[in-house]
Amino acid sequence: MALREIVKYGDDILRKKCRPVTAFDEKLWTLLDDMKETMEDAKGAGLAAPQVGILRRVCVINVHDEHGTIELVNPEIIATEGAQTGGEGCLSLPGEWHEVERPVRATVKAQDRNGKEFTITGEGLLARALCHETDHLDGVLFIDKMKKEEL
Ligand code: CO
Repeated sequence: MALREIVKYGDDILRKKCRPVTAFDEKLWTLLDDMKETMEDAKGAGLAAPQVGILRRVCVINVHDEHGTIELVNPEIIATEGAQTGGEGCLSLPGEWHEVERPVRATVKAQDRNGKEFTITGEGLLARALCHETDHLDGVLFIDKMKKEEL
């Protein structure tokens, strides 16, 4: 495993749409392992592949709940419920912390590192992280979703 450099705001790569993963091979497993290590080292709650310069639909999340570290390959939000407003940050925008409205509950369909499909439903902080990280794969950053009065 190795730490990867985190791409910072201003780099075009953060605005690109990522391609789906089609090969569930050692290259993917290394990417996932490196992303987990990089997220932990940076003390983040989530990290998406474009943040380490890889335009593939991969992210990792750890909001320190019973789920531990979640690996999501080709994630897709299939249901959301309610709305919550809370503080949010991003490892690509160090020092930025803003109020963002997100669903209270979000269900994501994804594949694991072997290509096996699963769904996960998160509430509160996990719902927020699922939405934030999935957004990254479409080039969307949390500052795009800030409340207007803060802009
Ligand atoms: Co982020």
